[in-house]
Amino acid sequence: MAIVKNGTLWKDTDGNEIHAHGGYIIWHEGYYYWYGEDRRENWYVSCYRSQNLTDWEFRNHVLTTESETCSYRVRTKQILVNADGSKVNLERPKVLYNKKTGKFVMWVHFENGKDYQDAAAAVAICDTPDGDFTYLGHFNPYGYMSRDCTLFQEEDGTAYFLSAARDNADLHVYRLTEDYLNVEKVVHRLWQGEYREAPAVLKIEGRYYMMTSACTGWAPNQGKYASAAAMEGEWSMLREIGDETTYHSQPAFLLEHDGKYLYFGDRWGGNGDCYFASSYVVYPLIVENGELKLQYVEEIEL
Ligand code: GAL
Repeated sequence: MAIVKNGTLWKDTDGNEIHAHGGYIIWHEGYYYWYGEDRRENWYVSCYRSQNLTDWEFRNHVLTTESETCSYRVRTKQILVNADGSKVNLERPKVLYNKKTGKFVMWVHFENGKDYQDAAAAVAICDTPDGDFTYLGHFNPYGYMSRDCTLFQEEDGTAYFLSAARDNADLHVYRLTEDYLNVEKVVHRLWQGEYREAPAVLKIEGRYYMMTSACTGWAPNQGKYASAAAMEGEWSMLREIGDETTYHSQPAFLLEHDGKYLYFGDRWGGNGDCYFASSYVVYPLIVENGELKLQYVEEIEL
């Protein structure tokens, strides 16, 4: 156990800065795997692993401009580099392990790197948690725009993809097919016109909680949350959580660890070169009289 300081770029076990922004953590066979954006070099998504959420070993650049691509029957575009040689933009990668197929499946937000008009979801797949993922390409689920996104997995394996649609005005929840490679149903079109992004979901004591941010680009804003008795059930109205900048962060994902509930957020550096100064924060989440609360801390023992 060690203490991590919020708002700093944590180092991996080799002493290098961890670049895994807008990320996600899963637990698999004794290790936590952390996936996140890595915009350096020709990389897109990097993966680190840890047994204690504090000491992170760099594993692999799991998705890069040179990743293998493969077509999949519902997808049309496998673009990892633009025609002019520039990188595309792959944001907020999330990965789940599919027990039925034995594959690790990544969903990520795709843009062309020049503007945010593709608003697409992309999928990649791998046999191991930290191997080279094969890129299956991007598409618009049922034709909808799809920007900030997350994944959520039920204990029985049912999984959901959530993303901001209609120029971020609405937040969609899609149930995934059994193999997690496609969407099979639009379950919800939530909070129409509320412009929520950066969704993150966690089940706490039998209830589902979803945190989101407002849409102010890289600048932090007032976080809100909602809850539901079931993923496909009725979601509550949005309520405020944290302060007017969500303690200077935007949600990345929520995690249960050691019986505690944790909020992982990004403290973005901004665009261009500033992006690389983006750091991480972890705040405890607590449920008190049915309300979800975020506790501001400067540092945390994980
Ligand atoms: C944020 C979003 C980030 C990134 C950024 C670009 O609102 O959450 O993932 O897309 O905008 O301005």
